[in-house]
Amino acid sequence: MKILVTSALPYANGDIHLGHLAGAYLPADIYVRYQRLKRRDVVYICGTDEHGVPVTISAEKQKKTPREIVDQYYASIKKSFEDFGMTFDNFSRTSLPIHHRLAQDFFLKINEKGFIYPREVEQFYCTRCKRFLPDRYITGTCPKCNNEGARGDQCESCGHWLEPSELIQPRCLVCGETPKKTRTKHWYFRLSQFQDKLSSWIADKKEWKETVLTFVQGWLREGLQDRPITRDLSWGVPVPLDDAEDKVLYVWFDAPIGYISSTIEWAQRQGKPDLWRDYWLSKDTKLVHFIGKDNIVFHALIWPAMLMAYGDYVLPSEIPANQFLNLEGGKFSTSKDYAIWLPDYLKEFKADSLRYALTRNAPEARDTDFTWRDFQAWHNNELADILGNFVNRTLTFIKKYYNSSVPSTSFFAERDNYILDLLKKAPHAVGDRLERFEFKGGLQELMKIAQEANRYFDHEEPWSTRKKDPAACARTMCICMKIVTALSVLTEPFLPFTAQRIKKMINAVPQSWDDIGRPELATAVGEPVILFEKITDEIIKAQVEKLKKESVDLEYFSRINLKTAKVLTAERVEGTANLIKCGIEVGDQRKQIVAGVGKDYAPEELVGKTIVIVDNLVPVKIRGVLSEGMLLAAVDKKGIVLITADRPASSGTAVQ
Ligand code: MF3
Ligand code: ZN
Repeated sequence: MKILVTSALPYANGDIHLGHLAGAYLPADIYVRYQRLKRRDVVYICGTDEHGVPVTISAEKQKKTPREIVDQYYASIKKSFEDFGMTFDNFSRTSLPIHHRLAQDFFLKINEKGFIYPREVEQFYCTRCKRFLPDRYITGTCPKCNNEGARGDQCESCGHWLEPSELIQPRCLVCGETPKKTRTKHWYFRLSQFQDKLSSWIADKKEWKETVLTFVQGWLREGLQDRPITRDLSWGVPVPLDDAEDKVLYVWFDAPIGYISSTIEWAQRQGKPDLWRDYWLSKDTKLVHFIGKDNIVFHALIWPAMLMAYGDYVLPSEIPANQFLNLEGGKFSTSKDYAIWLPDYLKEFKADSLRYALTRNAPEARDTDFTWRDFQAWHNNELADILGNFVNRTLTFIKKYYNSSVPSTSFFAERDNYILDLLKKAPHAVGDRLERFEFKGGLQELMKIAQEANRYFDHEEPWSTRKKDPAACARTMCICMKIVTALSVLTEPFLPFTAQRIKKMINAVPQSWDDIGRPELATAVGEPVILFEKITDEIIKAQVEKLKKESVDLEYFSRINLKTAKVLTAERVEGTANLIKCGIEVGDQRKQIVAGVGKDYAPEELVGKTIVIVDNLVPVKIRGVLSEGMLLAAVDKKGIVLITADRPASSGTAVQ
């Protein structure tokens, strides 16, 4: 059997943060490293997702071209993944010609088979920005969960896959304007035709994670709808049809095809250009997609339907989607820069400490929370005090009392049985959990061995048997060396850098996973080194502080539209003591805002003043009255002081 493993292709519009790692990347790497040690035929594929609105929006914000953005982040994502110990067999990019050709071929073939059709549709158009607004260019309120910051393709809060037209109070992301509907043509994928095929395909995925099945079944129950797979954007894979000028493929149509094009690139790099076929075109392949929960619908429904439509390719066997990782009680947020970015982390700490913390706390069944305190505690009390300590005390002892040559023994005692048995079962104990995608459980099994090994060492007291009973001491140390040797392999999927260092210290001979239970010992050990230096409170405190100081950069600030506005009318909101409803002029627009200044200002005082407002605030109702902005005021001990213009400036002028 062949195993083809993928991790969701990250958008090349920003760096990788811890939330990404815990979801789609680290577990996949653990799985793949394990499979390689089992000497199985496994290929691990990834790359950057370089199209779509996420990329064009980032480009606009940073005043760069999409090309510049994807080149920059492709390089930095690739580098930080490598430093984190990710072992992709190929890391490609969807902007390469090889991918464009394949995505277009895919489109054309399923089009020929009748699974794609054009349709005249109404689409949002921003008259101020003078362009169509695809997907995330529109924000509004999610109809499912009422999250106010939902985007036009997906609500990040509840995972609902949206059509922009479903959004309540839609607004242009760029300028805040309410978009108008305009007619245009798009191409639709006949997802509805795959309802039955998908249902019966899912029916035998009984072993899949509960969370994935629930999601998928919910969708199937609602009934699958045809979906548009083209967009009005100038960045992406051009739609390969004569009458589709200026349109590109929807990013979620082209991106998963990237799994295939990356595999083709891998095969070419091997000098065996047809090798990819053995994986994608064989029924004997186990295709495993590692993703975060926000990607479930695409991988468990749309993508399989696309593959079914195409016909020849293998379908996913496993989709071990993870839940989300939170950060110190809050959600990771790229726009608020509330995150721990992988390149920043790696500047100060070791990759393995993070691999440990993220696996120990993996969001496998529910969302979990990353805290720096846990990180420190697990590093110090578990990695250093349990794993590092056992390896270190064993090697130091052998160096000191056996002149670095590994003692041997011709017999074992009754009381060695427990630990020897544990050792024998270790590869299964850990491996079985990994086969089932239970990475947290696998790590627990691993640490149990290190913990029991320390207990064994304590109990055997080699420091006292050394003189009293040298044969017993040799036996103990021989067993401890067996355990260290086993640990050098068992740790490899989880803590590859540590595994490497242990191997070096013990001059280990290469071993497969199945040899772990009867490890082959080297005759001599090298110089023992400390595997994990303790992390101090000061270092952790600095990290916690860094997260608290939520500094905003210019780009973030520039998304808040401050404008001058002239107050035309003002009246009290009935039944309230401090609310005043103002009719204001913002350039050629009329708006209404509700301001809480009624205790310090009479309505007539406001009329005629030039004030400063936040113009692109999501409209809200205050006491049932619509407010489409917020005025700026200072609040000191004496009360509210309105911020007004020093001379009557024309209204609608940007304040910066
Ligand atoms: N770029 C997407 C994300 O970050 C994932 C794409 S996965 C693929 O959410 F299957 F489309 F490649
Ligand atoms: Zn606009």
